[in-house]
Amino acid sequence: MTVPSLASSLSDSVTAAAARLGMADLAPQIRRSEHADFQADGLLAAARTLRRNPRQVAADVVAGLPDDGLLASAGVAGPGFVNIELTDRALLAQLASRLGDVRLGIGMPESGVTTVIDYSQPNIAKEMHVGHLRSTIIGDALVRILEHLGGTVVRRNHIGDWGTQFGMLIQYQVEHPDPPAPDDTGAMGRLATLYRRARGEFDTDSTFADRARRRVVALQAGDPSTVAAWRDIVAESTRYFTHVYDRLGVRLTDADTVGESAYNAALPEVADDLERRGVAVTSDGALCVFFDDLRGPDGEPTPLIVRKRDGGFGYAATDLAALRQRVVELHADRLLYVVDVRQALHFRMVFDTARRAGWLPSTVAAVHVAFGTVLGPDGRPFKTRAGDTVRLVDLLTEAVDRAREVVAAKNPGLTGSALDERAQQVGIGAVKYADLATNRTRDYVYDPQRMLALVGNTGVYLQYAHARVRSILAHADGADATVDVTAALEPAERALILDLDAFADTLAEVVAGHEPHRLCGYLYRLAQTFTAFYEHCPVLRATGPQRANRLALCHLTGDTLRTGLHLLGIPTPTHL
Ligand code: ARG
Repeated sequence: MTVPSLASSLSDSVTAAAARLGMADLAPQIRRSEHADFQADGLLAAARTLRRNPRQVAADVVAGLPDDGLLASAGVAGPGFVNIELTDRALLAQLASRLGDVRLGIGMPESGVTTVIDYSQPNIAKEMHVGHLRSTIIGDALVRILEHLGGTVVRRNHIGDWGTQFGMLIQYQVEHPDPPAPDDTGAMGRLATLYRRARGEFDTDSTFADRARRRVVALQAGDPSTVAAWRDIVAESTRYFTHVYDRLGVRLTDADTVGESAYNAALPEVADDLERRGVAVTSDGALCVFFDDLRGPDGEPTPLIVRKRDGGFGYAATDLAALRQRVVELHADRLLYVVDVRQALHFRMVFDTARRAGWLPSTVAAVHVAFGTVLGPDGRPFKTRAGDTVRLVDLLTEAVDRAREVVAAKNPGLTGSALDERAQQVGIGAVKYADLATNRTRDYVYDPQRMLALVGNTGVYLQYAHARVRSILAHADGADATVDVTAALEPAERALILDLDAFADTLAEVVAGHEPHRLCGYLYRLAQTFTAFYEHCPVLRATGPQRANRLALCHLTGDTLRTGLHLLGIPTPTHL
C-alpha cells in the first residue's frame, strides 16, 4: 500500500488550486518551514509570468485550497509564500496509516523497472582497496533501495579478469612450480606475492618478458593448459573477494560476477557493427570513435579506441559489449556504473558511442554513479607509509578492533563471542556509514576514530538511537499503541510525525540522484528529532491515549530507523 506523504498531498492541492487560477504548469515546492508545518514556494515565479501581484496570487491559491480536514490554517507570508499548518488529526491519521502497513506506506514505485548495476569490480590477483570499498558499499546500498521499492535489479561485478598481466603471472608460475607460501592473510596474500615477483622479473629480465608475451598469445588462442592456469588464478581471487563480501555483509555472489573476459567473444562483432554504422573509423591503424567536443590539450581530438593497432581489444570495447548485452539481453531500463570519478571521460565516450550506434535508446538511462577519492590523514590519496595501497581487509580488521573497545567500554558485562558479534556489527557499520554519509562525488578523509564516535553523524550513533527506541518499547511490554486521532499533539510530537512521514519521499530522492547520503542525512535528523521528542514528551509515564500515541511514535521511529539502516547495509542490533 502506498501512503502518499502529507507534503505530496499538499502539493497536489496547491497545484489544483493554482490550475483553477490559470496557472497550469505550476510545480510548487512544498518545504518544511520554521514558521509553519510547510511552506509552498514557486508561486512568485508563476505570478511574475502572469504579470500579477504575487501576494494576491498567493491569497487566491489559499482561498482555493480544499477544506479536506488536512488544513488547520493557511496564510500568505512574505512576498508571496503560502504557510500551511496541518491539523493534529491529519498528522495522527498519517502516523496510523504508515504504522498500519508492513512496508511503512512506501509502496513499490520501482516495480516494472529493470536496473543493471555495475559495482565493486576488483581486479584479479590484486588486493581490494578503499576505492573498491566505495564502489561496493554505494552499489550495495543502491541495490537494496531499488529492490525495496519493488524494482528488478541485476548486479554485475565487472571484475578485471583479463589482460596482458596474466601472461606474466602464468609464465612465472610455470617457471617456478613451488608456489609462494600463502601468508596469514589468506589466498590473496599468495597471489599478491606472485604478482609482485612476476612483475619484478618482467621488468628486469627481457627474455622472461618475451616468454610472458608469448604466454599472452597462448592464453588468447585458448591453449588448454594456459587457460586452465588462468581459471585457477581467477577462482582463487574470486574466493577471496567472496570472503571480503561476507565480512562486509554485501549481497554479491558468484552468479553476479561477470568479468571482463566474459565479453571476449563479442568484441570482434562489436567492432564490426560500429564500423558498419560509421560510428567508428580506422585512424593510424586503430579503430576509433571521435567526438566533436573532445580534444586533448594539444587540440588533437581524443578518440575512444575500440581496437588497437595490433588488433587487440581493451577496456572500452569490453564496456561497449557489456552495455549492448545489458540493454538487448537483460532488457535494462536503467544502467548504473558505480565507478571512480576519474573514469568520467571513459563513460561519457562509451555512452555517447552506444547512443550513436543505436544500442542505447533514449528510453534507457545510462548513469556513471561517480565517487571521489578516499584520503589519508594527510589529506592525500590513502596510502601506507611506504606508499603502497592500504588493503581493505586491514581497514576492516582495525575498525572492528576499535569497535570492540567502544562496545566493551559501554557494556562491561559483554564478553566472548557476543562481544565479537557486536564489535563486528558496529565496526563494519561505522565504515559503511562513513562512506555513505558523504556526498559520493566528494573526497573524504578516512578517520577510524571519528567514524566510531558515539555522537554526531555516525553509524554507531544511529545504531544506538535505534537500540534506545527498542529498549523503550521493551519496557512498555507490549502495551497498547493504537493511534487515537482525536488526541492533541505537542510540538515535538508533530515534528516527529512530519519527519517520519518524509521517509518514502527521501527514498525517491535517493533513487532520482543515486545519492545514498540523502538517506543518511534523513536518518540522522530523524534520530535527533526523536531525541528532542523523548526529552519533552515522557512515553512510559504518560497515560491514556497520549501514552498509546507516543508508543506508536516509538514504533514507527524504530521501524523507520531499522528499515533505513538496513537499506544502507547496516545491521541494527537490539542491544548495544
Ligand atoms: N576494474 C576497474 C578498476 O578497478 C573498474 C571497472 C569499472 N566497471 C566498468 N564497467 N568499467 O579500475
